[in-house]
Amino acid sequence: MTLPRLAVRHLVKTFAGRRVVDDVSLTVMPGQVTCLLGPSGCGKSTTLRIIAGVDMQDSGTIHVDGQLICDTVDRVPPEGRSIGLMFQDFALFPHLTVAQNVGFGLRGRRDDGRVTALLQKVGMLRYLHDYPHQLSGGEQQRVALARALAPQPRIMLMDEPFSGLDDRLRDDIRDETLEILKSEGTAVLLVTHEPNEALRMADEIALMRDGRVVQRGSPYNIYNAPKDLQAAGFFSDINVIKGKVQGALTDTPFGQFLAPGVPDGTEVDIVIRPQHLKIDFDRAGRGPNPTPQDGTPARGVVQRARFIGASSLVEFRMDFDGSILRAAVPSVFLPKVGTPLWIMIRRDRCFVFPRG
Ligand SMILES: Nc1ncnc2c1ncn2[C@@H]1O[C@H](COP(=O)(O)OP(=O)(O)OP(=O)(O)O)[C@@H](O)[C@H]1O
Ligand SMILES: [Mg+2]
Repeated sequence: MTLPRLAVRHLVKTFAGRRVVDDVSLTVMPGQVTCLLGPSGCGKSTTLRIIAGVDMQDSGTIHVDGQLICDTVDRVPPEGRSIGLMFQDFALFPHLTVAQNVGFGLRGRRDDGRVTALLQKVGMLRYLHDYPHQLSGGEQQRVALARALAPQPRIMLMDEPFSGLDDRLRDDIRDETLEILKSEGTAVLLVTHEPNEALRMADEIALMRDGRVVQRGSPYNIYNAPKDLQAAGFFSDINVIKGKVQGALTDTPFGQFLAPGVPDGTEVDIVIRPQHLKIDFDRAGRGPNPTPQDGTPARGVVQRARFIGASSLVEFRMDFDGSILRAAVPSVFLPKVGTPLWIMIRRDRCFVFPRG
């Protein structure tokens, strides 16, 4: 088995009696990107600062390539950890040129052409002698990446490094950055509160909430098999249909849903993302026939329909209880408000959670 490049175990940090980091464990494998993803204030930056060595945990250990670099007794100083840092305000030195900024990152090591090679890699070689104020945000970001990579860190810690960039630029820079980091073989721990950024960049996501890692997994698994309603809802809008279990089944207006292993009488939430609702036309008050895959159709009336480019978002008020369901459909379809339509729920795309 490969040794993790970074292994964090049972990290705890308390501020004013509150456990801001509460028993956090995570790993980053060599050459891989782990994203620490969670809402604002959940403890992501604090975790990163502890790993960087600029903050000290109350308990827990940090290993790099199997070597202990920090517990509550021994502590390798930040500069001895072979860790590169990149934050949102990546602040290049304004009085140094691009080349000098990257050279500064070498921290006294011999250059040996590394500065030039890195600037070439990030596509900034021709700006060698420019000063930061002469560069765009994206260009500055590339220089900052080169600077952080200069000493060939074994691990790169990145805290929302793309949040200062505008949308279009951000996607390109994310992809480029990822490619460069992979080509350098650097292991990356990336902090973000944006699910799309994590899905796009991560090999593994550690989903954090209230100081705890609540779920770890590949983007595919975490999106398609969320652990609870909140984990599902963190990645997209969700629809929730309520039910009660009887004989490992839940009866709803959309037909029955399986609830294996859930005791009788338990209230459950059936969760489905807007893009997994199926919509069909009203045929003189009747909908399509039920199928095992999609269950029973239920009727709703279009309450709102918005065209947003690649898809349309349609809100339905359901006949059965007046509740609202949201569907995302291909944008060739934009129904009028007041249109009755039938909705079905893809069984393979819904999650059934006991109500917490
Ligand atoms: N030095 C400190 N003293 C007291 N409280 C702190 C300190 N640093 C962080 N906190 C608190 O710890 C909690 C977690 O902060 P942290 O910066 O780790 O959150 P975050 O997940 O990075 O959030 P964001 O996405 O907004 O950056 C917050 O409630 C914050 O107020
Ligand atoms: Mg933060």
